[in-house]
Amino acid sequence: MKRKQAERKLRAEQEQLISLFNSIEEVIYVTDPHTYEVLFANSHLKQLLRINPVGQKCFRVFQNMDAPCPFCTNSIILKNKYKPYTWEFHNTILNRDYSIIDRIIKWSDGRDVRFELAIDITEQKKLIEQLQQSQKMEAVGRLAGGIAHDFNNMLTAIIGYSEILNMDDRISQRQRGCVEEIRKSATRATSLTQQLLAFSRKQVLQPKIISINSLVADIHTLLKRLIGEHIQLDLILDDNLGLVKVDPGQIEQVIVNLALNSRDAMLNGGILKIETKNVSLSQGIRDYITPGDYVVLSMSDTGSGMDNETIKHIYEPFFTTKEKGKGTGLGLSTVYGIVKQSGGFIEAQSTVNSGTTFDIYLPRDQTPEEEEEKKSRSATPLNGHEKILLVEDDDHVRNLLDTCLKQYGYEVLSAANGGNALQIYEQKREKKFDLLITDVVMPDMNGRALAKRITKKCPTIKALYMSGYTEDAIIHHGVLDEGLHFIQKPFTPHDIARKVREILDAQ
Ligand SMILES: Nc1ncnc2c1ncn2[C@@H]1O[C@H](COP(=O)(O)OP(=O)(O)OP(=O)(O)O)[C@@H](O)[C@H]1O
Ligand SMILES: [Mg+2]
Repeated sequence: MKRKQAERKLRAEQEQLISLFNSIEEVIYVTDPHTYEVLFANSHLKQLLRINPVGQKCFRVFQNMDAPCPFCTNSIILKNKYKPYTWEFHNTILNRDYSIIDRIIKWSDGRDVRFELAIDITEQKKLIEQLQQSQKMEAVGRLAGGIAHDFNNMLTAIIGYSEILNMDDRISQRQRGCVEEIRKSATRATSLTQQLLAFSRKQVLQPKIISINSLVADIHTLLKRLIGEHIQLDLILDDNLGLVKVDPGQIEQVIVNLALNSRDAMLNGGILKIETKNVSLSQGIRDYITPGDYVVLSMSDTGSGMDNETIKHIYEPFFTTKEKGKGTGLGLSTVYGIVKQSGGFIEAQSTVNSGTTFDIYLPRDQTPEEEEEKKSRSATPLNGHEKILLVEDDDHVRNLLDTCLKQYGYEVLSAANGGNALQIYEQKREKKFDLLITDVVMPDMNGRALAKRITKKCPTIKALYMSGYTEDAIIHHGVLDEGLHFIQKPFTPHDIARKVREILDAQ
């Protein structure tokens, strides 16, 4: 009677323990490290495997192998005796990562058996990887942005002086050819620094409320020409698509870069599909995004696709799988920078030999669409006789601008810094300056502060700011302050002359 009671008690305790293991939502099991037989599996593991593995060989049920796994850890764990052994493992069958604690315990029949607790750390690992990735991009971005900033000043001078030389009719035909080569190379370098700036999110954005559908429609013909006739272009545009606040030129750049990559991935033809739709993301769908309403621009191709290793690196500047001369590896870095700077994010999915999809999420904006202002640009003459106060701390750029503005007929007085500019202004009060052209980032007094002081004295003077960089007094979060005139370095003498006329002619 007593024995029966004791047995019942023991069984109840056993059941209690088992139900405890079954209530844990992590993998728990026991195997015999000599025979590989599974002796116990908790409910969570049975659900994952969709079978009861007890009684079967561990390598068969967990790894789908016919013999012990080459990476089997039984011997290590046996050697460790009763001390816990901790390790990480990626299970390819379940495609999940586990942090595992193993130890030898005594089984009821006196055998030394292996007890394993495996905790699923797939999401954690993904988050850490994302964090590392974004930190890496951040660091590379800062580096790229810094280089681009300095190069912008140098390129402005190189391009400017070559244009000035070119205008000189005393140079020979051969010299003119050389100058033209210098200008062309410098212009190519400009497009490189522009891409680096875009990647490092240091471009000056001039966002407008637009519909991505109209933008796609606008560049539809250009896209067709770019990708060639062997690739079919399909547009699936949502009629009720929400609006977004973006820099239209920049988003065009995104679409063009993605289309060019798709073209390169479909050398023997295929389909490029551009699709737009509204998507609302709720909390927790993705760890790295803000929940809310988005417009999604998807570009899918039926091209060569990419393997996982390639996908990990695609947004890094200068990462390319194309042969030398075919790609610089800046296309997707630029796309990444522009999308991020526009407040959105990008996701890529790809299957080797089947195709690639890029989804670009841009936050929806409820403000009504702005009318595109149509400017007749090229028709306006570039010459003028107005009085300009020019402030720039870089000697090369200042001398260049001074020379070229004078060539266009303007009366120019130059200063190397804000203090000097104020002095000149005081001395030449009677001159009544029409325009102040000033660099934004200068030691002592920045361009914005200088302009404020001068407009206080002379409210009619207009101001044009120049900069190669966004982190300054007139641009906040990459967006130009409302109502300011701005020109991005590097620019050509022609560019600035056009800008100057635009400002002076505006009412
Ligand atoms: N649609 C795609 N299909 C297959 N692979 C792609 C696709 N888009 C990008 N890739 C891969 O990503 C790499 C990086 O692309 P990215 O646009 O940044 O540079 P690139 O095209 O090589 O050079 P660049 O754009 O500067 O001329 C490519 O070299 C290619 O391996
Ligand atoms: Mg590319």
